[in-house]
Amino acid sequence: MRGSRRGLMKQAGWGIAFVAVCLLGATSVWADEGEPQGEESEEATFVGTETCAMCHDKEHQEFKLSTHARINVKGEGLERQGCEMCHGPGSLHVAAGGGKGVGGIVNPRKDPSTCFECHLDKKMEFKLSFHHPVLEGKMSCADCHSPHGTEVRPWSATTLQDINEACYKCHKEQRGPFVWEHEALREGCTTCHKVHGSMHAKMLIARDSTLCLRCHTQVNFPTIGKRSHTANLAQGTCFSAGCHTAPHGSNFDDHLRY
Ligand code: HEC
Ligand code: HEC
Ligand code: HEC
Ligand code: HEC
Ligand code: HEC
Ligand code: HEC
Ligand code: HEC
Repeated sequence: MRGSRRGLMKQAGWGIAFVAVCLLGATSVWADEGEPQGEESEEATFVGTETCAMCHDKEHQEFKLSTHARINVKGEGLERQGCEMCHGPGSLHVAAGGGKGVGGIVNPRKDPSTCFECHLDKKMEFKLSFHHPVLEGKMSCADCHSPHGTEVRPWSATTLQDINEACYKCHKEQRGPFVWEHEALREGCTTCHKVHGSMHAKMLIARDSTLCLRCHTQVNFPTIGKRSHTANLAQGTCFSAGCHTAPHGSNFDDHLRY
């Protein structure tokens, strides 16, 4: 199997060379080679999840429990079901015995466009002024979402621990531990951040004090905590204006000021 895989990789290599040469307008020199051309024109078709399961048992077992495994858009056929809804038609990949990049199989880690076929609204979110660099190719949906789902809906980010853990992989500073932690973080990073993208700097849900006042208004407002904030609120947001500049927690000040 290894041998044939390598063989196909070589052919794929020829295919790329072939396209490159076409672009240079030197088609006639290469057209006679025949083989790469045949490979280019063959279209992959959908084969169904059970076929993929033969070789990818791990992904198949995990996937059974995920939200996407329950999706079956009526009248759309195999292209909207199972593995191939994200990986594209797999017949050529299977016929060649599989392999990385073999048979035109899509790996959405490198290309989220396959996700946007159904989640087009997310593409818009990633185009907002402040966003995670997914469209720029610097990170992938899979950095935060487990595409196959190892437990029950872990990637749905419905358990808070999972949301924060996903973030700490890259944002270690916010993990703490802090001497004075901010309890708000226990409700998840998404209580304050829109993580696909936002029109506000730092991907905040709002860039003014409403962000904080959702939880910190009290009956005798503008008293917050034990002191009146009338003068402070006029100076700027709670987290700028030199006030609570440590919204994630602090090692130095119990009022999260630095
Ligand atoms: C919701 C979209 C989606 C579905 C459905 C899906 N996958 Fe994936 N798959 C992905 C993404 C995204 C990655 C990249 C993950 C990564 O790099 O962490 C991936 C990666 C893979 C890989 C490469 C793993 C590696 O370590 O390089 C294999 C193999 C795979 N998937 C097989 C399957 C099989 C088999 C099924 C069906 C049982 C399936 N996938 C269903 C999105 C999906
Ligand atoms: C005959 C066995 C076989 C079958 C059937 C098979 N694959 Fe694969 N596939 C492989 C092998 C081997 C690899 C390379 C794995 C590696 O190098 O880690 C692979 C790699 C992949 C990758 C990673 C590609 C990349 O470029 O990173 C994806 C995604 C994938 N397969 C999806 C599928 C899907 C979807 C199906 C069903 C349509 C399927 N495979 C059917 C053997 C198979
Ligand atoms: C064939 C259509 C389709 C494709 C392709 C697809 N999704 Fe989905 N996805 C859905 C549907 C339908 C739902 C469930 C309804 C909803 O929440 O929108 C869903 C739900 C989700 C959820 C919420 C999960 C949950 O448990 O609530 C996430 C996260 C997600 N998809 C991410 C992705 C990513 C990342 C990709 C690409 C690797 C992808 N999807 C590809 C159709 C698709
Ligand atoms: C930086 C981490 C991160 C990245 C990257 C990311 N997501 Fe999400 N996504 C989340 C979190 C966290 C939630 C839960 C949001 C919430 O609960 O407010 C979520 C929720 C979702 C949902 C379900 C809830 C909803 O808003 O409909 C879908 C669908 C989804 N993401 C798709 C995607 C797709 C597609 C990509 C890649 C193009 C992607 N995500 C990239 C973190 C991420
Ligand atoms: C794979 C790594 C990775 C993961 C996982 C990740 N991020 Fe990020 N995050 C980045 C990168 C890269 C940037 C962009 C930094 C830049 O543009 O300088 C960023 C930027 C941000 C910013 C804006 C920072 C600024 O200075 O403007 C916030 C807020 C943020 N991420 C929150 C989150 C949250 C919340 C999660 C979890 C849902 C998360 N991130 C998951 C890599 C990641
Ligand atoms: C209580 C609201 C709140 C919560 C919850 C929250 N953040 Fe923030 N975060 C902020 C504010 C406010 C800023 C902007 C600070 C500024 O602009 O000076 C920020 C900024 C950031 C930045 C940019 C760097 C910095 O410190 O300025 C990153 C990265 C970040 N947050 C990640 C996270 C992660 C990861 C989580 C979850 C563990 C999280 N945030 C939870 C309010 C919050
Ligand atoms: C999800 C709800 C929530 C949000 C949003 C939130 N907080 Fe908190 N915050 C809490 C809880 C709960 C506590 C601990 C109980 C208390 O002291 O009120 C706390 C404690 C604090 C404290 C320490 C209390 C003290 O005595 O000084 C400060 C300061 C604070 N928050 C500032 C902020 C700022 C600034 C923001 C906006 C960036 C914010 N909070 C957003 C829930 C929240």
